[in-house]
Amino acid sequence: MRADTYLTGIEIEFPRNLLIVSKTDPNGVITYANHGFCEVAHYTVEELLGRPHSIVRHPDMPRTAFAVMWETLKSGREFFAYVVNRAANGNHYWVFAHVVPDIDPRTGEIIGYHSARRWAQPQACAKAMAVYQRLLDVEMREPTPRRAVEAGRAALGEILKGAGVTYEEWVFSLGA
Ligand SMILES: Cc1cc2nc3c(=O)[nH]c(=O)nc-3n(C[C@H](O)[C@H](O)[C@H](O)COP(=O)(O)O)c2cc1C
Repeated sequence: MRADTYLTGIEIEFPRNLLIVSKTDPNGVITYANHGFCEVAHYTVEELLGRPHSIVRHPDMPRTAFAVMWETLKSGREFFAYVVNRAANGNHYWVFAHVVPDIDPRTGEIIGYHSARRWAQPQACAKAMAVYQRLLDVEMREPTPRRAVEAGRAALGEILKGAGVTYEEWVFSLGA
């Protein structure tokens, strides 16, 4: 099994007073990682810098979540999400994440992204996971990644419509 897909199924207890911070270039390549990020994700700072942020991607996260994230960020808006990430040792950790584009005030151009993540209530993560599982199920039925995202977005749209909320209202309804 490849090192970057190895999973133990063990959840890391995320410290309640910790904030994980990272920055990327416009392509999602890591340009900054704070000490907390390295500690929790079990990487050295040298191992993280220059690598795509998908280095901590966990297969339980639906493609749809990241498609919505990138669309939101590229339109210049901030994005919030419950995210499960994979540490280098195969353990995983849940966080409540905030990601924001870094915009050059002179040109209006996006010059990178900034993200901070903190401990997330287990009940909120479980509620997010229930929706992510539905999206994964829908995505898995499709033959290509592109079709998977299209189907996932349609399913997410239906879920939000059914609940009568926007994506952001849904995220904040889950807990803190
Ligand atoms: C600032 C920033 C922080 C990110 N943090 C994470 C993260 O913690 N976990 C994650 O899986 N993806 C994160 N991403 C998204 C990844 O860049 C990538 O889109 C995602 O992991 C999906 O990867 P894939 O398209 O290769 O499957 C972040 C992106 C940015 C710009």
